[in-house]
Amino acid sequence: MKVTIIGSGNVGATCASILAQKDIVDEIILLDSKEKLSEGKSLDISQMTPITRSNTKVWGFHCDFSKSRNSEIIIITCGITRKANMSRDDLVQCNMNIIASVTKKSQHLSPNAKFIVVSNPLDIMTYICYINAKISRFRIIGMAGILDCARYKYFLSKKLNVSSYDIQSLFLGSHGDTMVPLYRYTSISGIPITEFISEIENDILINKTKKGGEEIINYIGNSAWMAPSISIVEIIEAIIKDSKRIFPCSILLKGEYNIHNICLGVPVVIGKSGIDRIIELKLNEKEKYLLKQSEKQIQKIIYRLRT
Ligand code: LAC
Repeated sequence: MKVTIIGSGNVGATCASILAQKDIVDEIILLDSKEKLSEGKSLDISQMTPITRSNTKVWGFHCDFSKSRNSEIIIITCGITRKANMSRDDLVQCNMNIIASVTKKSQHLSPNAKFIVVSNPLDIMTYICYINAKISRFRIIGMAGILDCARYKYFLSKKLNVSSYDIQSLFLGSHGDTMVPLYRYTSISGIPITEFISEIENDILINKTKKGGEEIINYIGNSAWMAPSISIVEIIEAIIKDSKRIFPCSILLKGEYNIHNICLGVPVVIGKSGIDRIIELKLNEKEKYLLKQSEKQIQKIIYRLRT
């Protein structure tokens, strides 16, 4: 199993490091447009492997896409990241050209690859990857919902003083201010969330989750990478093990949830071929309204790009 990570910045390199420690892939290729970055990071990660007892080989190259040939999974983490006072949507113009270019360059060298998109704004970049890769939508996976859920679980576990491990939750919609929390589908060890906190109290945690990325940027001046990286590895592991795990991921929708031709986060089953299937939930009126807001926000940006 060969995995290529495009972008050797914080997210790309940390993802490579976590993946290498797990010893579940044969080879990781790190690529970056910044000279010597991938070479240095891959060497550092490789020198961890005698201690982690991992046989994964990690190689880094500057822009040499030929090295990604025959990858089974390609992870796109490149592009500019958010700084203080920037929204994810501020990155659209710059990142869309980068994502379009790396998708085209890598897709024809690895025609059977599954893509995991991480660059922001996530749902837009997943769409850009889809239209440039020209492959089945079930092989283009946008990673955001796992991260948003993890942040929410962390905030909820702190509030209730329970283990975050026992919390089940689900988010739909975009990776941004219009993400849609599904209060009804949140539980702790099978006990509905309604037994613990009211929807109003929960909304405070949801708002913290929406601002989760921003809070970190305000502390360190740069976008988060630890939680995003391990969220990517969750998807890779589910593909490798064909484990059919259910995650909220961004995928091009063709009528599911009554949404057409944009990428948005929905629950999907992940297996060896990528997205195995989309799970369609019956939403209540409030959830439908919130998902519509998310759809409109993404639709507006996509419309601007198309015209
Ligand atoms: C965040 C970035 C990865 O939410 O979008 O931290």
